[in-house]
Amino acid sequence: MSEELSGKVAIVTGGASGIGLAAVRLFATAGASKVIMADVNGATGEALAAEIGDNVVFQETDVSSETAVQALVDRAVNDFGGLHVMFNNAGISNRLFDSFLDDDLQDFRRTMDVNVLGVMLGTQRAARHMAAHGGGSIINTASIGGAHAGFGVMSYRASKAAVLHFSKCAAIDLAQHNIRVNVINPGHIRTKMASWSDTGMSEAGFNQLQSELDEINLSDQPIKRLGTPEDVAEAALYLASDRSRQVTGIVITVDGGVTAGDCVNHVKQIHDAQARAMKL
Ligand SMILES: NC(=O)c1ccc[n+]([C@@H]2O[C@H](COP(=O)([O-])OP(=O)(O)OC[C@H]3O[C@@H](n4cnc5c(N)ncnc54)[C@H](O)[C@@H]3O)[C@@H](O)[C@H]2O)c1
Repeated sequence: MSEELSGKVAIVTGGASGIGLAAVRLFATAGASKVIMADVNGATGEALAAEIGDNVVFQETDVSSETAVQALVDRAVNDFGGLHVMFNNAGISNRLFDSFLDDDLQDFRRTMDVNVLGVMLGTQRAARHMAAHGGGSIINTASIGGAHAGFGVMSYRASKAAVLHFSKCAAIDLAQHNIRVNVINPGHIRTKMASWSDTGMSEAGFNQLQSELDEINLSDQPIKRLGTPEDVAEAALYLASDRSRQVTGIVITVDGGVTAGDCVNHVKQIHDAQARAMKL
């Protein structure tokens, strides 16, 4: 078992599901003295934390609340002796519209509150402690949707673009305090948020939807393997650990190559067109 987070106290927001849950598990096995799983979902969070191990605790937290985020940082400091790693990972998507023309923007404010304000509050409140105690590592989850333009979920895309830009600015501002700020851009990762399932869906319906989504997601991904929350958690562990002590203001993209470039192979089409032209 690796011990690279030995002696460190870490907070993972959105820790009760998907990427956050995988990070909580990985940080706990990497020897963190305490991992605080912070999530709005108190119903499952408490039990999940208890099941992972003695070095994991749950704190019900809405990251868009200044009071709740401050209470979270205070718990790390007062109950566990400090805060070395802050993984601001909680995020929500907005409703998927075929066209921006149809978007009623009803969920714009909540999306911004959770995805942008939540990350900014988490960064600031963690950094205020870290600045006075030798520094630390802050990791913010954005998305390939914030780095690359495309269809649908416009509020979500805008919120994640804001996370990317803010995090680089914070990296510059906070470096003088030995605080590193880095970003992870997940691509298509099979989680609850990415399932697009309706609450009224049967199990059979969910399974069919999931397999169709897998096919859609793999169509623009050079690596033909579905990304997992654990793939993203590995990037978070690297950024949390001292292995990345010289690294700040960067973005680690975990997307199987989706954003590396156009993965439609035009070469064969060009060769076929050349062959047809040669016959004329
Ligand atoms: N899954 C993907 O394909 C994908 C792609 C790009 C980016 N992301 C980002 O990764 C992060 C994690 O998403 P996921 O896919 O694991 O989703 P998920 O839905 O499985 O987990 C998100 C967790 O965040 C919690 N949460 C929601 N609002 C919160 C709030 N206000 N305060 C505290 N916790 C809150 C939820 O209860 C949930 O437990 C998000 O920021 C998301 O935008 C995911």
